[in-house]
Order: sequence, then structure tokens, then C-alpha cells
Amino acid sequence: MNPSTQRVVLITGASAGIGLAIAQRLMSRKDLILVLTARPSSLARFDDAGIEESDRVWLRPLEVTHEQNRIDLIAEIESELKGVDVLVNNAGITYRSVIEHVTEDELLHQMGVNFRGPIELARLVLPSMRAKKEGKILNVSSVGGMMAMPTMGAYSASKFAFEGASEALYYEVRPWNIQVSLLQLGFIRSDAFLKVPYTEHSRCASNNPHDAYFKHYDCMTSFIGSWMRRSLTSPEKVARRVERMIDRKRIPLRVKGTPDAVLFNLMRKTLPAPFYHWLLYHNLPCIRKWGKPPYPADK
Ligand SMILES: NC(=O)c1ccc[n+]([C@@H]2O[C@H](COP(=O)([O-])OP(=O)(O)OC[C@H]3O[C@@H](n4cnc5c(N)ncnc54)[C@H](OP(=O)(O)O)[C@@H]3O)[C@@H](O)[C@H]2O)c1
Repeated sequence: MNPSTQRVVLITGASAGIGLAIAQRLMSRKDLILVLTARPSSLARFDDAGIEESDRVWLRPLEVTHEQNRIDLIAEIESELKGVDVLVNNAGITYRSVIEHVTEDELLHQMGVNFRGPIELARLVLPSMRAKKEGKILNVSSVGGMMAMPTMGAYSASKFAFEGASEALYYEVRPWNIQVSLLQLGFIRSDAFLKVPYTEHSRCASNNPHDAYFKHYDCMTSFIGSWMRRSLTSPEKVARRVERMIDRKRIPLRVKGTPDAVLFNLMRKTLPAPFYHWLLYHNLPCIRKWGKPPYPADK
């Protein structure tokens, strides 16, 4: 295939979860050149997944919060492949923590991975997309970007910010035929919930039955785990959706990627706000036990 007709697709966080499923889905596409990126410590996972480097598949380290790493990678793609045609901003983390247990540094880290890094990548790929008068920026977002849940406040803050910036960008770059889209995902059937990072305080509190917030963590953790295990949407299904978004001529600003994303969006839009918040609060798992003694202990 003539390299000049192949589109260059850059995927962040491609060595695990949804990113890996997208990478595997697109591997057989001869019309695409894939730049699969992972944090340096996770690059070896490509080998485990049977993904090898070739003319059509580049494997590169990318820590999305590292400015020079971002700049060097995009510069290399511009000089060797004439720029990125499709940016898939997939990498993300989800701190499990109540707001009181997130330090400023941890909040900045959450925002750096899910918001600042992806937006900086978009800024870097835009000049060549504008020159070509074509491009797609696919931002993997979340139900957490349209509604907030307890113990996920920092995550929601990052995805709300990501949604806001992406929406502005959608209007700004339309004159150059650049399409920006947010793929809003709800619960995905995966083990991602087993590896969520905790903050320093939330880790201690979630292991201490005498902590005032212990029940918040205890109930939300099993609630989220059981929803993820029962989800009808697999990472492979999300990957098929992403492939369609890459292929379609026109993509909407927001794409609901799971049935629960459709449902929560509908609830948010149609229910009067006080009723919506009342309903959500009263349906939180074992809400009556939250914040109740016995605590404190070990004095
Ligand atoms: N799973 C769900 O239910 C769900 C629901 C809604 C939205 N989402 C969104 O879907 C996306 C993918 O999530 P997932 O479920 O596939 O999670 P995952 O299995 O934890 O994968 C996340 C990927 O992001 C990478 N990553 C994390 N921090 C990074 C950094 N600083 N720089 C570069 N890469 C980094 C991870 O690399 P390492 O393995 O090296 O850490 C990993 O490859 C995220 O944006 C997430 O918010 C997921």
C-alpha cells in the first residue's frame, strides 16, 4: 500500500484495557499506520500481547504528563510520517478517593493524565492537521464526565474539564475539517477496577473500618466492581465503536459508548435537578450506613 494514502493513528495507553483492545482491532488494517504508545514501564506488555513493531506498527514510550516526551514523539511522527491523522486520547487513571482525601499534588496528577496531557497532545497535532485540512481527535471520556459520583470526584473533575475543552475545540477546528469527538463510556466489563489507584489518605481510610469515610469506600468499591463485572460492554466492543468513528466521514461531538451512558445522559437531561440528585443520593449503596459511628477507635 502506498504510505501516502495510509492514515496515521496515534493511540495513548495502548498496552492495556481499552487501548490494547483498540490496538488489536486495528492491527489488521493495511490502510492505517499505528503509533501505539505506553508508559516506558509498560512497553513490554506489547510483546506479551503478541504485538510486534513493523513499518505499519510503531511502538513508542509515552508518559502523557511528560512535556518533552510528548513534543519529541509528535516531532518524530511529523518528520517520518507527515503527522498524525487520528489522535485517540485513551490513557487515563481513576483515583478512588473522597475529595477530603485528595492532596493538591494528587489532584494535579489526576488532571495531568486525564486532561492536561491529552489536551497538550491535541495542541501538538493540530498544526499539521490544519495544514492538511483534515484530522480526527477522539477523546475517550466517561459517564464521569457528565455526572459525578462519590469517591470519584477528582476523576470527574478531570473528565468534566476534558469535556469542556473538547467541546470548545470541536467548534474551533471545524473550519479546517478537523473533527473532535468524545466517546462517553459507562461501566466496561474489565478488571480495571482492581487496579484503580488510591491516594495516600484514601488507601489508609479504605483499610480502616474506624475511619469516618470507611463505609463510603467499602460500599462504592463493591458497587462499582459488581457493575463492571456485569457490564454488557467489553473493551472489544468499545474498540469496534472506535474503529467506526475512525472510518465514518462525520462523527458527532458526543458518542454514547455504553447503554448506561445513554441512560444516565437521559436522566441528567430530563429529570428536574433536585429530583435527580435526590434519586441518586438515595440509591447510593448502603447510604444509611455512610458516616455513621463506630469511629473513632484505637485511641
Ligand atoms: N473501564 C471503564 O469502565 C471505563 C469507563 C469509563 C471511561 N473509561 C476511560 O477509558 C480509558 C481507558 O481506560 P481502561 O478502562 O482501559 O483503563 P486501564 O485498563 O487502566 O488502562 C489505562 C491505560 O492508560 C495508561 N496510562 C495511565 N497513566 C498514564 C500516563 N501517565 N501516561 C501514559 N499512559 C498512561 C495505562 O498505562 P499503565 O498500564 O502503564 O498504567 C493503561 O495503558 C480511560 O480514559 C478511562 O477514563 C474507562
